[in-house]
Amino acid sequence: MVIILLGPPGVGKGTQAARLIDSVGGEHISTGDLLREAYRDGTDLGLGAQEFMDKGELVPDLLILGLIRDHLSTTDPETNIVFDGFPRTIAQAEGLEGVLLDVACGISEVILFEAPEDELIKRLSGRRSCTNCGAVFNVHFDPPIIEGECGRCGGPLIQRSDDQPDTVRNRLMVYETHTTPLIEHYTSHPASLKRVSAMQPVNDVQRAFRAALEID
Ligand code: AP5
Repeated sequence: MVIILLGPPGVGKGTQAARLIDSVGGEHISTGDLLREAYRDGTDLGLGAQEFMDKGELVPDLLILGLIRDHLSTTDPETNIVFDGFPRTIAQAEGLEGVLLDVACGISEVILFEAPEDELIKRLSGRRSCTNCGAVFNVHFDPPIIEGECGRCGGPLIQRSDDQPDTVRNRLMVYETHTTPLIEHYTSHPASLKRVSAMQPVNDVQRAFRAALEID
């Protein structure tokens, strides 16, 4: 099963992808996480990508497609894959079709999570991530029990550098310009896009998401 999660920054794609993979197994592929990992490892890709990420701009399609191609070359084609934050442009969507053909899989589902902009800004400003285990909290909606400390592993919580207000505004504009054309693209795709309202508590979004996938 190959699932693509679409939706604006902060809508909850990462949260829902992690919950789905916890329950059905498989691989959660977040291009944002792969790029942040490459930056922490000091690779050329990570260092080059950081310039774009800090400004809230998209990393060039060729770099992203290379990253995905490398990643999928070591992935079992039978495994469940949830793409989170990829593809983000029509060129990436077309590139993905080619990569999936090479590994003999197809896209099973495309889910679009939706929420209004003021909610996205609140979620992004309140997000805190654990530098140790990657768990994600929110000071407004899901605060850690001890401020600044991960409730799962005790590691330190940080705010992502691209969650600052100016960068968030640009990320939302970039989403509108470059990523919303994918809604039309996948509406006419055989996998057929389904919409899920993310404007409800996390557990309710999860229920609606599973219903859209027809998982009990
Ligand atoms: P990336 O890391 O992919 O960021 P994004 O798509 O902007 O998405 P986010 O991670 O910000 O949000 P999310 O929807 O996953 O929400 P989350 O679950 O965390 O990309 C970062 C950058 O990398 C890009 O700007 C670009 O530069 C580059 N990049 C990445 N992929 C690329 C690509 N394919 N092409 C080119 N460049 C690329 O939730 C957010 C917060 O809300 C959390 O605190 C969470 O706890 C909370 N929350 C979640 N659900 C709910 C709910 N239902 N109610 C209340 N709070 C909730």
